[in-house]
Amino acid sequence: MYTDPKMLESIRKVEAARAENIKLDPRRMTAEEKDVLLKTYHPDYRENQFTVLYFGPNKGEKVPTELAALLEGTSRILNKQIDLSCPDYDTDVLIIGAGGAGCSAAIEADKAGARTMIVTKLRMGDANTMMAEGGIQAADKPNDSPAQHFLDAYGGGHFAAQKDLLYKLVTEAPEAIEWLSELGVEFDKAPDGTMITTHGGGTSRKRMHAAKDYSGAEIMRTLRDEVLNRQIPVVDFTSAIELMKDENGHCAGAILMNMETKELYVARAKTVILATGGAGRLHYQGFPTSNHYGATADGLILGYRAGAKLLYADTLQYHPTGAAFPAQIFGALVTEKVRSVGAMLVNCDGEVFMNPLETRDVAAASIIRECSARGKGIKTPLGDAVWLDTPMIELKNGAGTIEKRIPAMMRMFGKHGIDIRTEPILVYPTLHYQNGGLHITPDGQTDVENLFAAGEVVGGIHGRNRLMGNSLLDVIVFGRNAGVHASEKAKNVTVGKLTLSHLEAFEAERAKSGKPAEKLSPQLLPDYTRREEPTLAK
Ligand code: FUM
Repeated sequence: MYTDPKMLESIRKVEAARAENIKLDPRRMTAEEKDVLLKTYHPDYRENQFTVLYFGPNKGEKVPTELAALLEGTSRILNKQIDLSCPDYDTDVLIIGAGGAGCSAAIEADKAGARTMIVTKLRMGDANTMMAEGGIQAADKPNDSPAQHFLDAYGGGHFAAQKDLLYKLVTEAPEAIEWLSELGVEFDKAPDGTMITTHGGGTSRKRMHAAKDYSGAEIMRTLRDEVLNRQIPVVDFTSAIELMKDENGHCAGAILMNMETKELYVARAKTVILATGGAGRLHYQGFPTSNHYGATADGLILGYRAGAKLLYADTLQYHPTGAAFPAQIFGALVTEKVRSVGAMLVNCDGEVFMNPLETRDVAAASIIRECSARGKGIKTPLGDAVWLDTPMIELKNGAGTIEKRIPAMMRMFGKHGIDIRTEPILVYPTLHYQNGGLHITPDGQTDVENLFAAGEVVGGIHGRNRLMGNSLLDVIVFGRNAGVHASEKAKNVTVGKLTLSHLEAFEAERAKSGKPAEKLSPQLLPDYTRREEPTLAK
């Protein structure tokens, strides 16, 4: 509920400007304008928030300071005596992570007849997939094509995507939608049965398929059911704290830790798939996050220590519209679909300051500029924010649209006394996605033999900025792909003598570099005890 007099005064201005604003179609920025805007206001360009890695596969490259401390951290099991001769688990394909990518991989590996096992530090489905709202892209309408999808994503990612990965993403998208539909995902459909699709930021065609604004939850529900139906073993509340190799230097399993008892287990596998997701809970630069509780970059750490290279680890996605008020939902995702269906971003004076469907990095930088240099933000207890004028949606599309298309948003704000059908909402960028991650080949393999990766832990698919709806797509396409190739590869793997000698080699590199270890890693869970209240980073 809004009670602050200044907020109420600003709302009056937004209301007064609404009838004119709704008619506006603000022009898109030119490439040059975007370039200047990003360099001046986007958090990826704050040089003092990054540091150069001293050692490891990406030595000399720039990454967020918080990530560097973990990548160059000390193993939790360094110098621990662990008997590797008698594994507690033995499987063909070990999947680390039970979100969208991990479950998709498990389904395909199981279908291929491989002995498959999932390990997850929380529960199956505790993942960013579950939190995804707006939808999943696929060019499956007559006016669209994978080529068009490629161009949108390639441009939106600043022409930096690994082209072979992006090609796979867009060409396999229509099949991914069919696969999900067959498994039971209830996508939104028109009365004649055709899929309802909408625009997202940076899309030239309406290709966002959604299940209202809980698309990720609907997809995760379906995948989880399929994993359970197939009786694929899932070891939950158990984290992978280190990868294992065999005497040939090939990945051969992982050391697991029970999250409650801290007991360690040895899991031997012919191939391993890292599907550990993102890093939002590291709260880079003090930003709040839309991510689930376990998003602490674990897969990057495990892979890096084992010798896998990272790609674009210096680029993060700040979703432009994180909830900025009230404090109880600070940083929570306000789906881009809210703008797709008609809401516009406006400042404290009710002025529209950008096209609502610019790409995310441009939209986030515009909001930061509005709140900082232009001084046109609205004060909240946690910092400045801008309005997302949600009442425009029903003025454009008719009464009932909000409840029908974005019910989760209506409920989230409704719980706090804000009716988004009649009142605008306050938003500010929130840490949402890691654009960078482990380098993979199109068959999903990292630089370490027999170590595969899928989902948000991978870098390069989207370049330096991802478009809405391409992440749900990527977890399905590359999750399935990793499951297929890891199970195929496992058929010809004979695991040699197990070893953790890569950890000693990593420590030797550290010693040579002179860089002291700052942290134990992987971190596994966010550490809120040592952090101050998150505030809206400026
Ligand atoms: O805005 C959203 O619904 C987020 C979608 C995505 O990150 O793909």
